[in-house]
Amino acid sequence: MDKKIIFDEQKHILNFETMDTLHQEFIDIYNSVDINSVESIVQKANELLEHSKRHFKEEETLMEQYNYPTIREHKDEHTKVLAELEYFIRNSHSMFGKKMLKAYYIEKLPDWFDLHLISMDSDLSSFLKKQKVINGYI
Ligand SMILES: [Fe+2]
Ligand SMILES: [Fe+2]
Repeated sequence: MDKKIIFDEQKHILNFETMDTLHQEFIDIYNSVDINSVESIVQKANELLEHSKRHFKEEETLMEQYNYPTIREHKDEHTKVLAELEYFIRNSHSMFGKKMLKAYYIEKLPDWFDLHLISMDSDLSSFLKKQKVINGYI
């Protein structure tokens, strides 16, 4: 059951520093959980929620600044995952809710993270690099 996000340069490094730093921080928070402790899962889910708000905001600011063409789809995906995380945290007071949060944390979040990076975030970072944006600045 111990499913960590294994850092993989091929998947997780986009060669765009501001985004790479945010993604490394996400992995670090995710992996610092004690999966056998419900309190730890709730705490890390909250930390990931707060961190993801900042992470997504930074990406969205770059999208707006440089007129990224698929901003709508990318933003929708961010909004969706924040809503899911918030939903499972909010409902984590009952035993059933705790089980659901744990399942979401273990089964869903790592796959979402990997898929989002290899699809939407890698597309955004190559777009920004084509615009000659270096680490958020032209
Ligand atoms: Fe990202
Ligand atoms: Fe993103």
